[in-house]
Amino acid sequence: MLMRDGTAHRRLRGLANPLFAAGAIREMAPRIDRIVRRIMDDMGDGRDIDLIGSLAALVPVTIFCGLGGLPVEDRDLCRKWTDALGHVIDPATDEATLRAMNEAAEEFGAYIAEHLIQRRTDPQDDIISRLLLAEFDGEKLSDEEIVANIMMFFMGGHETTVNLIGNGMLGLLRHPDQLRALRDDPALIEAGVDELLRYDAPIQLVARITTDDVELEGHTIPAGSKVMILLGAANRDPLRYPNPDRLVLKRSNVRPLAFGGGPHYCIGALLAKTEARVVFTELMRRHRHIRLSRDEVVWRPQVNIRGLRELRVDLVP
Ligand code: HEM
Repeated sequence: MLMRDGTAHRRLRGLANPLFAAGAIREMAPRIDRIVRRIMDDMGDGRDIDLIGSLAALVPVTIFCGLGGLPVEDRDLCRKWTDALGHVIDPATDEATLRAMNEAAEEFGAYIAEHLIQRRTDPQDDIISRLLLAEFDGEKLSDEEIVANIMMFFMGGHETTVNLIGNGMLGLLRHPDQLRALRDDPALIEAGVDELLRYDAPIQLVARITTDDVELEGHTIPAGSKVMILLGAANRDPLRYPNPDRLVLKRSNVRPLAFGGGPHYCIGALLAKTEARVVFTELMRRHRHIRLSRDEVVWRPQVNIRGLRELRVDLVP
């Protein structure tokens, strides 16, 4: 989906769009709520808890297994494959990483295909079953396309959502007045999630190839050039957002570019925002104090995906 254009892309989007539309996400909300609460029950409270390992990294993969129609007990396996596949959009990838990626694609593909065969005879209320039934302009998806879509949803939705939760929490911890405001009025997260996405975007850049010559600030970018578009920089444009380096949950007219734009605009944007809203609401409800337990935080060494390796906090009920 991500790598196709024109009619081929429209067909794939047309078939998958209804799965992530507002009505579908509203229907999924109670399941998302239940899954997040269970993960937080297991995490508990205490000192020096890694909020990435114990919470953020578990939420999207568990939710997607649940909604997708894959056994939740297999989430660690799905996460291992998803992590290996995630390097596909990394500009600097070595031979060993490429080999691991190929292996993961084969194993994950075979695993999803097995579940697809089961769903064909025994459809359930899940994304695999819905993709099997989906029709757009009289066309259906092939089994291979369904497998590729499910893998794409895991890849597109895992690390990005982990980082929305991680980067968002760090932003709040570094702006204690905003954290306090959210605790006093948890409804602030409704619109505030867009400010978290603006302030520290989980995907910092997207790539495109120009189809025509483009004039920009006195320079010509010739047709056929590869260009990198820095979403993170646009989100902090001082001409668009006054005092852009400050997190302000009540900031007005926030429309971050965190989910890209145009025909490839993130299909899972609503799902990701719903997951993050549930996580932040539940964190505020359960913990009277949340504070960094160490001054230093450790970032992952990637260029395009911005996220923390660890976020150590004290959680006080
Ligand atoms: C905070 C979380 C997320 C962020 C920041 C994010 C970001 C993005 C961005 C920037 C793009 C556009 C890429 C481009 O134009 O080259 C994109 C596309 C996409 N995302 Fe997300 N995403 C998130 C969550 C999700 C989730 C939960 C899913 C699961 C369904 C998902 C699935 C996809 C897919 C399938 C595409 C390709 C759409 C297309 O090509 O038409 N994303 N995402």
